[in-house]
Amino acid sequence: MEKQTIKDILEGYKKYLHHDITVQGWVRAFRSNRFIALNDGSSILNLQVVVDFEKFDEEILKHIKTASSLRITGEVVESQGAGQSVEIIARKIQILGENFADELEKTVLQPKKHSLEVLRDQAHLRFRTNLFGAVFRVRSKVSFAIHQFFNQNQFYYINTPVITGADAEGAGEMFQVTNFDLNHIPHTEDGAIDYEQDFFGRKTNLTVSGQLEAETAAMGLGRVYTFGPTFRAENSNTTRHLAEFWMVEPEVAFNNLEDNIDLAENFLKYVIGYVLENCKDDLAFLDKRFAEEQKTKPERERAKEGLIEKLENVIKKRFMRVSYSEALEILMNSKENKKGKFQFPIEGWGTDLQSEHERYLVEKHFESPVVLFDYPKEIKAFYMRLNEDQKTVAAMDVLFPGIGEIIGGSQREERLEVLQQKMQEMHVDERELWWYMDTRKFGSVPHAGFGLGLERLILFVTGMTNIRDVIPFPRTPKNAEF
Ligand code: 4AD
Ligand code: MG
Repeated sequence: MEKQTIKDILEGYKKYLHHDITVQGWVRAFRSNRFIALNDGSSILNLQVVVDFEKFDEEILKHIKTASSLRITGEVVESQGAGQSVEIIARKIQILGENFADELEKTVLQPKKHSLEVLRDQAHLRFRTNLFGAVFRVRSKVSFAIHQFFNQNQFYYINTPVITGADAEGAGEMFQVTNFDLNHIPHTEDGAIDYEQDFFGRKTNLTVSGQLEAETAAMGLGRVYTFGPTFRAENSNTTRHLAEFWMVEPEVAFNNLEDNIDLAENFLKYVIGYVLENCKDDLAFLDKRFAEEQKTKPERERAKEGLIEKLENVIKKRFMRVSYSEALEILMNSKENKKGKFQFPIEGWGTDLQSEHERYLVEKHFESPVVLFDYPKEIKAFYMRLNEDQKTVAAMDVLFPGIGEIIGGSQREERLEVLQQKMQEMHVDERELWWYMDTRKFGSVPHAGFGLGLERLILFVTGMTNIRDVIPFPRTPKNAEF
């Protein structure tokens, strides 16, 4: 049997008019013992089912409650009421799953606004709300658009390992992977942990980035990208950090920094454009929610544009491209800095930028997405290409309004000796990365790439504020329940 989703029926209803169809879904509301709002997840929109209660058993009607699940067969007719073009006149109703939780129904499932934190603890309900339904449908479409973009541009999708021996960022924020019995860890004669006896015969961790492996692939396949989970044991309890997040990392042979920035800009615009085109119902809902949320904020914190308007504007304008040194000048001379309003004052060239600085540049100064490039080498990773000034590296960060850093990337140091020198200065052990060093020994070429934090992009396109609310099962410090 062909099964129609509610989306099929609402979008192509002319085809179904005056036919009997079967739909299945969850009850969102049951009004006047007569109108069921049914939702099956295929769309944010509900299908209205009209029940002539005289034709149905008391027993069945009793179980039609918010959250219970039904299979309904009936005729598709044009709707008399406002708000929908089509409805179903129920002929047969089967209760698939009762809602036993009367109390729960009263407290959590009532169509009132639930606190997003409460819903984070209610895995099963979260997916049933309009808000999270919209967010996760959009998330899925974004992932598809990402693959589509790269596929159309002749990139190959490669899968880099989740378990690795490498610390790609050299920042030491790794979750260790072991199958040692932690109560009986073997030691060598000199008292060190004997990793040779561990599962992989060496110390291993969950990946913080697939970049180094992607670089080896780009050295043969030319244009590649990874798209997978990455893990960071940084103790940042913010609305923008997760311990487990999804990263997209293109890596392109023969690209320089400017090519890399162009790629990042085209990529983001494509994906945002795709969402505008293909997630209209969900975006309309999110746009309304965003506007309502703005009203609850003090005037000066309110967004200047609506959500959809913001997305449309981002794809129209060229991103601002500003060097770190120029940005630093702007920040140093800003009223905020002079009046001591930054939590981290700008002390001079070389200062690492905090998210308050990034957001000042994007939201106050330029009022546009900004790409910062050519950062001081000391504050960036070892693999970034040293510029001629010997002080900066060919790094780039894309900063977005309301988010801050959404992409981080660079042209890579392809010159073996310069890379070795850099690693020594930054205490990255060359022997640990022997396989990576090999890429610089056998036909090394200029190349560049970047990493996009998927959840930060989802925050941007959905207008949500907490990164925990755009990933189905957030992992954050002290939180990995299910
Ligand atoms: O700037 P990052 O650390 O860069 C890298 O990992 C490079 N190896 C990428 C590359 O060049 N291939 O991380 C890249 C992006 C950030 O811009 C941010 O969007 C996201 O990943 N990100 C996080 N997202 C959520 N939670 C965290 N803890 C994140 N850390 C980074
Ligand atoms: Mg970064």
